[in-house]
Amino acid sequence: MSSPDEILRDAVAAHLAGHLTVAEVGYSKVLRKRPADHQALYGLGVIHYDQGARDSGIQYLLRCLQISPDNATTWNTLGSMLIETGKLVEGKAAYQRALELSPELSEGWYNLAVCSKREGDLEGATQQLRRAIACPAPFSKAYEVLATMLYEQGHQPEAAQTLADWAASEPTNPIARHMVAAASATEAPSRASDDYVRAHFDGFADTFDSKLKALGYRGPQLVADALTAAVQRRRPVSSLNTQANSDTPALASLLDAGCGTGLCGPLVRKLCRTLVGVDLSLKMLAHAQRRGCYDELVAAELGAFMRSRPQAFEALVCADTLNYFGSLAEPLAAAHECLRAGAPLVFTVEALASDASIHRLGVSGRYAHSESYLRRTLADSGFDVESIARENLRTENGTAVEAYLVVARRAGVLAGSA
Ligand SMILES: C[S@@+](CC[C@H](N)C(=O)[O-])C[C@H]1O[C@@H](n2cnc3c(N)ncnc32)[C@H](O)[C@@H]1O
Repeated sequence: MSSPDEILRDAVAAHLAGHLTVAEVGYSKVLRKRPADHQALYGLGVIHYDQGARDSGIQYLLRCLQISPDNATTWNTLGSMLIETGKLVEGKAAYQRALELSPELSEGWYNLAVCSKREGDLEGATQQLRRAIACPAPFSKAYEVLATMLYEQGHQPEAAQTLADWAASEPTNPIARHMVAAASATEAPSRASDDYVRAHFDGFADTFDSKLKALGYRGPQLVADALTAAVQRRRPVSSLNTQANSDTPALASLLDAGCGTGLCGPLVRKLCRTLVGVDLSLKMLAHAQRRGCYDELVAAELGAFMRSRPQAFEALVCADTLNYFGSLAEPLAAAHECLRAGAPLVFTVEALASDASIHRLGVSGRYAHSESYLRRTLADSGFDVESIARENLRTENGTAVEAYLVVARRAGVLAGSA
């Protein structure tokens, strides 16, 4: 029979590998033999919390701290749980306690900085982030947030230096590499790399919906409304049969490219018989899966996926995703390949105010496109533009992020279309 130490070791390994049920069973077995085992209590607390039993998770961590009151990591994790559940004062106090116990806990300084920023203490936040990156094992996110804050405060060279330091300390980190390119006016790649997209959105997936809601994000509603109007203006041939009635979906097949957590899904579901989502981030896709309204979800680069399904779709939506591309020539050519003639293509990109036909990678790590660039590239890629409207996409730091909402159609006339 395995010893409690062996069971604990296997439970931790299962937890790290994402096998939560196995880990939970293991931790519980350990606790039956050693009711005061700190690691098993901690592991169970994290699993309960992550699975939505937040109060139970917090209770487990409090029990941990009765047993080992000087464990800085537990205080830090408890702080995050308390903050996320709205207990801001208690959460901040937990971070402070963690840092008293372990002044070199970089993540603790980062968390404290996030609290200070939320309270409007930008100077305090900047100092705490500097402290975070001076620790022996700097917490990655601290570089990114510090650089963003320095940009916002107009300290461009210092921000660029912070990103360069980050890339130097983590040379294989795709987010650091992308952000260094974003900070440099001359080194912008033609699109964000697959590695960057995966790393960025895997890390964002669990909080994406709540964060975007807080920013008043309108992308999915904008594309869904525009697609509904485009479909009403002209139905594709497959739906123009005599059996069609008001309950018949207007489209046989719709692709949501860069579907993310699936926010567009419920808004466009009723328009199509088959709804397919494609995205690079497995963690974003897992959320889309839980939403339960896609017929097929595919983990792939969207351009490669679209090229693999020639003329498969009667419409395509793409909300807030093409801003991870600078040049749109490749994704639009791929969209042309996967769409049927006359099919609507509806997407948003961040707006770049310029009369020139250009796109630009911003310090946010996202690209923006000018209207004339959109018109020229759509025409070159075989699309007829129906409309390009300037819309408020979301609010960031109290400022509206403006987007172009584009409605185009794959050129070519459908035989029998109205
Ligand atoms: C800002 S999110 C938008 C998600 C969703 N469309 C929405 O509006 O809520 C952008 C999504 O595009 C995905 N993405 C970016 N570039 C991609 C690419 N080249 N291929 C596939 N997915 C990509 C990201 O993984 C992410 O889930």
